[in-house]
Amino acid sequence: MKLLVVKDYEEMSCAAAKIFKDIITEKPDAVLGLATGSTPIGLYKKLIEMNRNKEIDFSNIKTINIDEYVGLGEENPKSYRHFMNENLFNHINIDKANTLVPNGLAEDLEIEAKSYDKKIDELGGIDIQILGIGNNGHIAFNEPDDFLISETHVTNLSQSTIEANSRFFQSINEVPTMAITMGIGSIMKAKKILLLVKGEDKVRAVKELLNGDITTKNPATILKLHEDVTVIIDESMEDKGD
Ligand code: F6R
Repeated sequence: MKLLVVKDYEEMSCAAAKIFKDIITEKPDAVLGLATGSTPIGLYKKLIEMNRNKEIDFSNIKTINIDEYVGLGEENPKSYRHFMNENLFNHINIDKANTLVPNGLAEDLEIEAKSYDKKIDELGGIDIQILGIGNNGHIAFNEPDDFLISETHVTNLSQSTIEANSRFFQSINEVPTMAITMGIGSIMKAKKILLLVKGEDKVRAVKELLNGDITTKNPATILKLHEDVTVIIDESMEDKGD
C-alpha cells in the first residue's frame, strides 16, 4: 500500500486527478470505478477542468459507480445517479450510455445486484477505482460486521452511516436505510485502487488501515491485501487520532 501525504484537500484532488489523467492518456477506453460523497468532488472538478482544456477525452471512457440508495431514482436529487450527473457526467464529453450506476428503483433488487458484477466483467474489469472511507471504515456500503460480502449486494446501512449521511438530507428520517453496493470482492478486483481520505472523523479508521490488522470490523483494512492501492491523506491527519 502506497501512502501519499499532501498539504490539503486541493492538493489531494490534484494528485488524484493526475493519476486519473495518466490512466486515461495511456488507455483512452479505460473503465473508471467512481464513488459519490463529499470526498471525490474536488477530483471531479479537476477532471471537468482537464476535459475543458482538452487534456483528457472521455468519449471512449466507461464508468461504474460503486453504490446507490435503494428507492431513489435519477430524478431524485439525493440519488447517486443524480449526484454523478451533476458533479461530473453533465460537464464532460462522456456518453451517458457508458456510465453505470446501480438502479435503486429496480423491480427486483437482488437481480439488479447479481447482474452488476457480470456487467463489470463484461466491460473487462475496472482499471482504477476511486474510494472514500466512512468514519466506521466502510468502503462503498460494506459496513463493519462479523463477515463481509464479496459480490454486489443489497445491504442495510449502519446507524453511524445513516447519521453521517444525514447531512445531505433535510432530516435523518429521509436518509434511505438500504443500498445496493459493490461487494468487497468486486472492489478488490479493480486493477488499481485510490483511496482518498477527507475529514478528521476518518482518522481512527485510516490509522487502523495503515497500522492495524485486517478486520471485518473495519472493512477498509481488507485493502491491505490488494497489490496496487494508493491512500492519499492530508498532513493534518498525521498527528491526530492517537
Ligand atoms: C459513496 C460511498 C461511501 C463514501 C463514504 C465517505 O459512493 O460509497 O463509502 O465514500 O461514506 O463519504 P464522504 O466522502 O461523504 O465522507
